Amino acid sequence: MRYLVTLSVNWSLPFNEKIQVAEGIKSLTPEAFRQLHESSIKDPATFWAKVGSELDWFRKWDTPLDNSNPPFYKWFAGGELNASYLCVDRHAKSWRRDKVAFYWEGEPWEKSGPKDRRTLTYADLYREVNRVAYLLRSRYDIQRGDVIGIYLPMIPELPILMLAAARIGAAFTVVFSGFSSDALADRFNDSNVKLVVTADSGWRRGAVTPLKPVVDTALAHVKSVRHVLVVRRSGLNVEMHSGRDEWWDEALSHVSSGAKVEPEKMKSEDTLYILYTSGTTGKPKGQVHDTGGYLTLLHATMRWVFDARDEDVYWCAADIGWVTGHSYIVFGPLLEGVTSVMYEGAPDYPSPDRWASIIERYGVTLYYTSPTAIRSFMKLGDEWVKGHDLSSVRLMHSVGEPINPAAYRWFSSLVGKPRIPFGSTWWMTETGGIMISHVPGVGMIPMKPGTNGMPIPGIKAEVFDEQGKPQKPGERGYLVIQDPWPGMPVTIYKDPERFKQVYFSRFKGAFYSGDYAVKDEDGYFWVLGRSDEVIKVAGHRLGTYELESALVQHPAVAEAAVVGRPDEVKGEVPVAFVILRQAKAPSEELRRELNLWVREKVGPVAALSAVYFVSKLPKTRSAKIMRRVVSAVVSDRDVGDTTTLEDGASVDEVRRAYAELAEEVKESRVHSAT
Ligand code: WT7
Repeated sequence: MRYLVTLSVNWSLPFNEKIQVAEGIKSLTPEAFRQLHESSIKDPATFWAKVGSELDWFRKWDTPLDNSNPPFYKWFAGGELNASYLCVDRHAKSWRRDKVAFYWEGEPWEKSGPKDRRTLTYADLYREVNRVAYLLRSRYDIQRGDVIGIYLPMIPELPILMLAAARIGAAFTVVFSGFSSDALADRFNDSNVKLVVTADSGWRRGAVTPLKPVVDTALAHVKSVRHVLVVRRSGLNVEMHSGRDEWWDEALSHVSSGAKVEPEKMKSEDTLYILYTSGTTGKPKGQVHDTGGYLTLLHATMRWVFDARDEDVYWCAADIGWVTGHSYIVFGPLLEGVTSVMYEGAPDYPSPDRWASIIERYGVTLYYTSPTAIRSFMKLGDEWVKGHDLSSVRLMHSVGEPINPAAYRWFSSLVGKPRIPFGSTWWMTETGGIMISHVPGVGMIPMKPGTNGMPIPGIKAEVFDEQGKPQKPGERGYLVIQDPWPGMPVTIYKDPERFKQVYFSRFKGAFYSGDYAVKDEDGYFWVLGRSDEVIKVAGHRLGTYELESALVQHPAVAEAAVVGRPDEVKGEVPVAFVILRQAKAPSEELRRELNLWVREKVGPVAALSAVYFVSKLPKTRSAKIMRRVVSAVVSDRDVGDTTTLEDGASVDEVRRAYAELAEEVKESRVHSAT
C-alpha cells in the first residue's frame, strides 16, 4: 500500500476522482465555492466580525481585528466574554437544560456491555462546573491568570475542570496522558503551574495505567506547584503527600450542590489555554490560545464543517490531551449545545468492533476520527463491522494526518452510504480550529478520496514555492496561511521571539505551517506531510529532536538520528539510527534498553519501532544530519534528485551517503527491534 505521507517525489494523487455528495446536502461546484470564498476573504476582519457577533458577548468589541503589532494580532479587541458561560450557562438556562451534553463511556467491559457509563445533561454540567470553579477559587486560591496543569484520562472530570478554569479566568495546560514525567515536568515548569489535577490512573486496552505516580516523579522537579488534586478512577493505591495532595471527591464533598460562581468577564485576547506542541528543537512550544477569536472559529467550523444541529449525536474520537479534543470534544460542541459521545479507551477493546458498537449504541450521526483508526479497522476486516447498524451516521471527517485513498474508500462504503460527506480536515494545534476542509454546512464541492478540500470561508491559504510565490497547480510547495484568522495563536508562551521566528519569518506576512502541500487544477488542497523534523505517529505529533535528545542522554549513545518510516496503520513510526560510544557494542539487549529509555523519557507515545546501530550518519558540510537520506533508506526509496533542498550537499555526496547507510542497515540485520 502506498501512502501520501511520504515526501517521495514520485507521489501520485488521484486528482480526478470526484464523488458527488448524496442528496439532502447542498452541493456546489468548485467554481461556485471559489466565488463564495473569494468574497469572504476580501475583508476577513469584517467577515469574521459577522460570525463573532453570533456569540453572546458581555461587551461588544471596539475593533474586530487589532493589527497594530503584527504578528501579534488581537481579535475582537475590547470585547468581553466567557467560555464557560457560552458553553454551559446559555444552554442550562434554555430549553436545552435537560438535553444530554455528554454520553460518557468508560473502557472497562462486562458481558452485558460497557461497565461504566455516565450521562451529563447541560444542567448537570452547569452544576458541576460551578462547584469545581468554587473549589478551585475557595480552596486552592486559583485566581484569574493562574495556570492549572492537567494530566487526566478521558473522564468527564476533564471537560468539567477545563470549563471551571475558564469560568474563573484561569488558564490551563493539558498534557496528554501518554507523556512521561520528564515531559510533564518540562511543561509544568514552563507554564509555572500552581495546581495539578490528575487521576490515580487511567484505563487503556484493559490495563490500568498509573498517572499519579508519574506526577509525583515530575513534581520533584517543579517548584511552583502547591497542590495536587486526584480523581479516583480505577482505585489504584497511590501515595498521597499530606498537605499537598487531595482526593477530588473528598475536596468536592465540602462544596454544596448549589454553589455558584459568576463567570469572569474575560477580555477577548485573554488566554483560554496553553497547549504544548513538538517542533524542531527539544523544547516544546507553548501555544497560547485566546478566548474570543478561538471560540469564534470553533463556532464557525462546528456549523460549516460538521453541520451540527440540535438533533445530532456527535462523536469526536480523539483524546482531549491533544488540540482536537480541546476544540472538538470540549469547546466546539458545547458552544453549539450539541450532544456528544465521549469515550475513554481504545477503539478496539475488548474486541475490534468496540467503536462500531459505540456508534450503534448512541446513534452517532456525526463522526470525527483519525486515518490511523480507520486503517486499523480496515486491517482487522469488515466482518467486525457488518454486525452493527451504522446507518445513523450522516457525516464523517478524519483529522491528524493524510488519509490514503484506499482507507477513504473502504470506510466510506462500509459506513453504509458511500456518498455522505466525508472529508479530511486540515489544521494544527497552532491554528486552533479547522482551516482547510469540506464545508457541508455551507455547500459541498465534490469529494476526492484523500484531499483536504478547500480553505474554509474567511481563511486565505496558499501553497508557496521556495520564493514565497504561489506554486503552480500540481506542484509541491509549502502550505501557508496568508492573513490573520480568529483562533490563531497569540504567541508562544513566554517566547514571542520564537513565535515570530518559527511562523512568520520564512515568508513575509504569512503563517508558515511546516507542511508540504499541493493544489490541484480544481483548487483542491492536498496536504502531504511535514517538511520539517516533525513526524506524525498515529496522528500524534512528535519532534524527532525530542527523541534524539532522549537517546543521546543514554550513556552508551554518542549520536542519534530519528526519522519517520511509513507505516501501514500508523502513517509513520519513529525509527532510530544510533552511533554508540567507543567500547560499547551493539546488542539486542541494548536495543531493548534504548527503547525503554525513550519510553521513559518521553512517554509511551514515543515507542521506537526500530533501532539501527550504525558507525556514521550522513551529514552535510555544515554538520547537519541529512534526514532526507536517512528517511529514504528506511522507506526503501531512492533519494532521487531531492538534493536541491539539501543544505550544501552535492548529488554525488547524497547518493554515496545513501548507499553507505543502506549497506550498513542491511548488514546489521537489526530490523524491527521491538
Ligand atoms: C499536523 C498538525 C489539528 C488536529 C490534530 C493535529 C498534520 C493534520 C491533517 C490532514 C494531512 C494533517 C499536518 C499538521 N495534519 N490534519 N487532514 N491531512 N495532514 O494537530 O498535532 O498540531 O499536528 O498534523 O502535518 O501540520 P497537530
